[in-house]
Amino acid sequence: LATVEVDVATLEPGMSLTAKWRGKPIFIRNRTEKEVEEAKAVQLGDLKDPVARNANVPADAQATDIDRSAGEGKENWIVMVGSCTHLGCVPLGQSGDFGGWFCPCHGSHYDTAGRIRKGPAPQNLAVPVFSFISDTKIRIG
Ligand code: FES
Repeated sequence: LATVEVDVATLEPGMSLTAKWRGKPIFIRNRTEKEVEEAKAVQLGDLKDPVARNANVPADAQATDIDRSAGEGKENWIVMVGSCTHLGCVPLGQSGDFGGWFCPCHGSHYDTAGRIRKGPAPQNLAVPVFSFISDTKIRIG
């Protein structure tokens, strides 16, 4: 399907689900306040990939937490293609050295904003085109 709608009403902070869009896993996470604070505390200069890689913001936007997330008022939500930017394995959630995602194939560590922090992956996990069509429903694509 070109677009999918996902109901996220049951996702409390700290919970995730994986949807499917165009044959790819899409990670949707309602981040905890702690996860958001950790991501916000990171200096852009410490990032391996300083670009947001978010299809919903300008292509040259920086990888700040707000521009990695669903944006103002919804910064707790993060939506990403669940495909490691190294060779495409599916990363594991809430693991790795930065408390975000960890790709076991060759050891790439992503932080709580899905930004690559360590390992061979060259880019942050991609954020697909998506929007909230209601308080509890996300349309992807
Ligand atoms: Fe993820 Fe290589 S595919 S680290």
